[in-house]
Parts: sequence; C-alpha cells; structure tokens
Amino acid sequence: MKLFLDSANLEEIDQALIRGHISGITTNPSLLSKEPKANFFAHVNKIADRITNRGQEIPLSVEVFATKPEEMIRQAQEIRERVSYKQLNIKIPVGWNELKVISELARQGIKVNCTCIFTEEQAVLAANAGAKFVSIFMCRLKDIAGDPIKVIGNTRRILDLAKHPAEIIVGSIRSQTDILDAHIAGAHIVTAGAKILEGMAFHPQTEKSVQSFLADFNAWVK
Ligand code: E4P
Repeated sequence: MKLFLDSANLEEIDQALIRGHISGITTNPSLLSKEPKANFFAHVNKIADRITNRGQEIPLSVEVFATKPEEMIRQAQEIRERVSYKQLNIKIPVGWNELKVISELARQGIKVNCTCIFTEEQAVLAANAGAKFVSIFMCRLKDIAGDPIKVIGNTRRILDLAKHPAEIIVGSIRSQTDILDAHIAGAHIVTAGAKILEGMAFHPQTEKSVQSFLADFNAWVK
C-alpha cells in the first residue's frame, strides 16, 4: 500500500517528507512545467537534495523529454550523470522502439520506470524489457471508457505468477477513491498529487471526536 507523491513542487515535497507517508516521488514534464522556470537539472537536483537532506533514499522518477530512442538513451545517461541521487529512476514512455531504450538502460544499470501504460500487454513488454516500475494511468484510461481495475488486477496477477520483480505504480489519480481502488485492484504503489494525499487524513468525525474528548477533559480538570 505504498504511496508516492506525484509532484515537482519543492514545498509539497518538503511537506510530504516531514510527514513520512510517502515512499517515493514521481515527476513528469507537465508537473515540472507547473513550477517556476528553471534549469531542468538544477530543479531535479533540488528535489534530490530535499530527500537526502532528510536522510531518506526513496525512489525519485524523472521523465525524459526526447522522442527518438537514441536521444532518450543519451538524455537518460545525462540525467544520471548530472543528478547525483542513487534512487533515481528514468521514466520512459512505453512503445515498440522504446523497448530498445528500456532494455539498453537496464543493461547499463540505469533504473527505469516505464510510463504511460494503458494495457496489460504494454506492462508485460516493459517488465520483460527490464523496467523496475510499470506505471499504469488510471483516470486517463477511464477517460476513454477503459477499465483500469481490470488492467491493474491482471497485470498484478501476471507479475505474481511469474514472480517478476517489477512493481506496478498506478498514476493519473484524481480522487482518494481512485487510490483505494488501485491498491485493492493490486497496485504495489499509487502516486497522487499533494492535495489528494492530504485529503486522505481528514474525516469530520475525527475532528468532532477530538473536540468532544477535549471538552470532557477540560470540564473534568476545572
Ligand atoms: C505518474 O507517473 C504520471 O505521470 C501522472 O500520474 C499522470 O497524471 P495525470 O494523468 O493527472 O497527468
């Protein structure tokens, strides 16, 4: 039931790290583009520093922004060289030619998070090519009337039957219910935005219960 934070925002990352509920961070080019303009490597290194400064070593996923396989490999190598962080995972979108990238990076010892997955077949190919994580997009699949619960469940079953080490990350999350449904369906990890994760902590009865306890106690100590 691992939770990852899906964000490139330094403040959100700080707030999550001090609370200890996340065991990884995922970014993508769109999440980075929401941050103030900055040098790509400088911003990613700031994220890595935030994690190491807390004495943690959780997986951090950073996506390539090239589209040609050889350029993706070159970029992945450059990210690994210029971001000094051991638990760095390079996000590579799934695809026929991208399998060459995943396989080559895995051969070079570069950890890969294969992303933008919508089917069991894509997940199986990526895992076989050497991906450490296979990222299934829940709500983008729902957007086209797909069945992410089936895809997650089948993928988990296939990986478990094969005793394959790859882990399923479910992303493209828009609600707390998505997080629960993804975990129950078989996700190893669910990655979600800061606001959705924060909302998980709240329930009106929790507040009311604490207030009533305190009211009783304060009346008793008077
Ligand atoms: C995670 O790895 C994905 O990049 C992310 O969850 C996609 O979410 P979105 O569909 O909200 O953009």
